[in-house]
Amino acid sequence: MAPTTTTVADEAKVASIKTLTGAELNSVPSEYTYIKDPNDQADASDPEHSIPIIDFAQLTSSSPDLRSKAIQDIGRACEEWGFFQVINHGVPESLMKSMIEVCHKFFDLPEEEKKEFQSRKLLEPIKCGTSFNVAIDKVRLWRDFLKVIAHPEFHSLHKPADYSEVSLEFSKQTRQVATELLNGISESLGLEAEYIAKAMNWDRGLQILAANYYPACPQPDQAIGIPPHTDHGLVTLLIQNDMGGLEVQHNGKWVLVDCAPGAFVVNIGDQMQILTNDKYKSVWHRAVVNNRATRISIAVPHGPALDTAALPIPELLGGEAPKYIGMSYEEFMELQASPAAYMMPCLDHLRVKADN
Ligand code: OGA
Ligand code: NI
Repeated sequence: MAPTTTTVADEAKVASIKTLTGAELNSVPSEYTYIKDPNDQADASDPEHSIPIIDFAQLTSSSPDLRSKAIQDIGRACEEWGFFQVINHGVPESLMKSMIEVCHKFFDLPEEEKKEFQSRKLLEPIKCGTSFNVAIDKVRLWRDFLKVIAHPEFHSLHKPADYSEVSLEFSKQTRQVATELLNGISESLGLEAEYIAKAMNWDRGLQILAANYYPACPQPDQAIGIPPHTDHGLVTLLIQNDMGGLEVQHNGKWVLVDCAPGAFVVNIGDQMQILTNDKYKSVWHRAVVNNRATRISIAVPHGPALDTAALPIPELLGGEAPKYIGMSYEEFMELQASPAAYMMPCLDHLRVKADN
């Protein structure tokens, strides 16, 4: 290893990727080196390149025909992709942009000011850091994060100045969209619109504002923002600045999500896969990095209440045996964050064994 690389690698032990990339950096330090399988790259020329589009205005329309079309579209998107984008959702694009801006300002704060929010606790109401969990990461991730719990209790930061106001409005409006989508998903399964919300104690459900900061990387092929994983909750809504980087696994291939400006990217999480006994899949996805500009994304996972355990919904089994045992959402999240389950398919721990 060249001596310069060693120096940079040592510096990399600092708190953030922001600090690391602030210095002139021509290569990826060894502890960040993550080589993707060359056969496992997204192919932008693939005709199957685009995730399905759901028109939220149809879903909330007073016309039963339009609404039932949107519900059918949601059902198909959940079965075939586990991912879709939502347009015409009514959340102002200016609010989405402001949310990205205030998060960007947070990442730009002096390291000293961010330090007080560094925590190892899983459900710390406000938490920032770098990588995934530096205590257990084998390879460091090319990202910093800020996770703030917005529901059932709203938490906020005093700095940057606008964070509180903007995040309150953004979390409320995003939650409303998520609630409508959850009800649409419930109906797409042939259930009453509020079936899943009631079963999962949605009124006490968890909502996290999880901002990701991915600075430009000198060798994007040698690093990763977030490696392949599934999300733990029911549905995640995601927005990003004008840089792409989210890739989704579809029919064995990686597809780069090319999202319409102002749209939400939505995906199904593990709890929904459990509820539907695998009909709707919590799909693998990852965040790749680029060498042009900083990418910021805000993922907003929505889950059940922490004390609530998802189990396959009896009405959906149609004679099939339930494939999962129950575990409270809090325990599930703890399991997912544990060293033993690092970026592993956590659902396997809950799967009923074939010979049981
Ligand atoms: C996540 C996630 C993807 C992205 O935060 O869980 O998958 O594009 N993020 O930032
Ligand atoms: Ni994710």
